[in-house]
Formats: sequence, C-alpha cells, structure tokens
Amino acid sequence: MSPERLTPTIFVHPTTKEALFRAAGGALVLGTPPRPICDSKQEVYDFAALTGNNGDRLHYDDVYARKPPRNPPVSEGDLARQWQASPDLQQLLASLGDLEGRTVLLLGNGVSPREFHFLSRGARCIYTDLSLAALHAARNVFLTSDLARRFGNRIEFHAVDALHLPFADASVDLVYGRALVHHLNNLGLFFSEVARVLKPGGRCRFLDDAYCPAWQLLKRTILRPLQQHTHRRHGISPADLRATQKGGFTRPEIEQLARDHGFREVLFERSLFFEYFCTRGTLKLGGQFLLPVLLPLCRGVDAVLERYCGFTHRHGVRLVWGFRKETGREGPMGVERDRTTDRGNHVHFSDNAGSG
Ligand SMILES: C[S@@+](CC[C@H](N)C(=O)[O-])C[C@H]1O[C@@H](n2cnc3c(N)ncnc32)[C@H](O)[C@@H]1O
Repeated sequence: MSPERLTPTIFVHPTTKEALFRAAGGALVLGTPPRPICDSKQEVYDFAALTGNNGDRLHYDDVYARKPPRNPPVSEGDLARQWQASPDLQQLLASLGDLEGRTVLLLGNGVSPREFHFLSRGARCIYTDLSLAALHAARNVFLTSDLARRFGNRIEFHAVDALHLPFADASVDLVYGRALVHHLNNLGLFFSEVARVLKPGGRCRFLDDAYCPAWQLLKRTILRPLQQHTHRRHGISPADLRATQKGGFTRPEIEQLARDHGFREVLFERSLFFEYFCTRGTLKLGGQFLLPVLLPLCRGVDAVLERYCGFTHRHGVRLVWGFRKETGREGPMGVERDRTTDRGNHVHFSDNAGSG
C-alpha cells in the first residue's frame, strides 16, 4: 500500500462536528476566515484538549508519566505471539475478522503495542487515547519497532476523548477498545458516537469484564483488603472505581445498548475464571514469579470445567463483546444472536456483511 493511495482521515470538531481543514504546517483550522483549532505536534493532534474531560485526563497523564511502557522495542513476531498468550486475547483477535484494507479506530489504547499487529494484517490504524502522554509514549515505541519502516504510512496517533470523536460520519470499518468501555461515564453518548463514525455494516469490538457473581463475592470479601491496598498504591480513576464496585457487564445491558443504538449481531463471549482470578491475585500480591507454575494449572482447571459443564460460558470474567452497524438494506430491527451454538454465546459474521 503506497502513501498516495491512503484516504486521508477527515477530521471534525469533537463537540460541534464542524469540518476541520489542514492548513500549511499541519494545523487544523475551522471556518472562513480560518480559525486555528488544533496544532500538529509531531503529527499528533490533541483533540481531547477540546472536550473538557480534564479530571480523567490528568489522572491518566500522571499514570503514564510515572509508568513508561515496558519492554520496547517490539517486533512483528513478538506481537503475533502476544495475541496467542491467553484465550481472551485469542477470542478478541478472532472476533475482528478480516482486517485487510480496513480502517480500524483504536480507542483508549493507552501505551499498548499489541494492536500494532493489526498493521501486519493489512489494516490502517488510528491509534488514540485520552492521555497525550500515552500517545507520545506509544508513538515512540512504534517508531523504534521494526514495524515503523514497513507500516509507518498506515498509522496515526491522536489524543481523543472516546465520548467526543473527531472523525467524520461513516469513516471507519472497525471501532476497537480493550479495557476501555467500563471507564466511560456515558455509554449512551459513547455508542451514538460509535454508530456515527462506523460505516454501514462496520463493527465494534471490546474487551471488558462480564458480571460474574462469584468474582464479585471474592472482591467484596477475601480480595477486598488487597484491592484497597492496590488502589491506594497505584491509584484508580473515579470511573474505574465505579465500574469495579458495580462488576462487569451483563448480557441484558449489552442487548439494551444494541437496541438503543440500532446495532445488530450482539457478540457476548465470556472466558477465563480461574486463570483470571489467579493472574489478578498473584500480580496484586507481587507474586509474578509464581505465574509460570500457577497459570498452566488454572488453565487446566478452566478447560476441564468448561468441557464438562460449560463453566466459563456462564461464569467467565473476561468478556469479548460488540455489535455490527446496520447496512441500511436489512429487515426490521431486532437483537440477533447466533442460533447455531447451544449456549448462544458466539456470533458468526458473514464477511459480505462487513464494510468494504
Ligand atoms: C485500563 S487502560 C487500557 C489501555 C489499553 N487499552 C490496554 O489494553 O492496555 C484504560 C485506558 O482508557 C483510557 N481512557 C479513559 N477514559 C477515556 C476516554 N474518555 N476516552 C478515551 N480514552 C479513555 C485511559 O487513558 C487508559 O489508557
């Protein structure tokens, strides 16, 4: 893919949605006579500064300034392996479908390099987070990786508040957020933005926690002191604290979101119980060195319980979820689930339903 053949990203003002134009030097301007809206610093636009989400942003800028990304630089081989490291990541990747030629909007991506792998799969990525500090750190990791030379023309980095997207209507094929949605305090606004920027037939895919009564009980009892200790030590944003206290998403909540925003094909796929419990607990207790022994054990228990009683399908904590936007040529709306599996957890997409 050559730089000339890429469609340039069309930006709009994140709150008013007026069209923005690039002036000489890269700054974004609005109206006539042109009024400067956003400077370009190292080709990164700070749209989040225009939306007033200052509390959360200060929190995350501080988090990322104190905790730079671990283990850069990255290679294509490392990234491909990372996606195979646990069942929830495998499910998330599989749920994205074919990425060749797709424009993927990464929301709340922090400093995670894992998603650079989508470039190797043929995608064009718009990498975003609320925190400008995270964006610059992620961009530096990318520039020092062996992906920069091959895919540098297919990725851009911008600070974006997921509740106020600065992208034109129907401009992306896939909206992606890992461990993001439970941080947002207005899901109605978020999904109206997701529906706006997705092309007809485009999809959104997220990874968060599913509501799991057993996990909630553990958090409220034996894990409570540990949780309070880590919150004090590492800090937690108010939105994240609310989400932790409430527990993860339920299927009815997600189906309601689909109905409210005219989405189809609800995906609700749970995985991991003991593995999740063991990883979280061990990391919080500072026992990383135990993981090589504990992880295979927990994976074994998860696999056996799943096989004999479908345990993780009912109690799994990790949740891969999402929807498809209507193509505009479909029949009456209704929340559709896959009817081919016994537990109704999987949704299979036919690729011609996706956007081109
Ligand atoms: C738990 S981190 C996950 C980061 C990354 N997705 C990952 O998997 O490593 C949550 C991220 O959401 C971002 N975030 C929180 N509120 C946001 C918002 N309103 N818009 C965009 N990003 C947001 C934070 O800056 C943070 O990087």
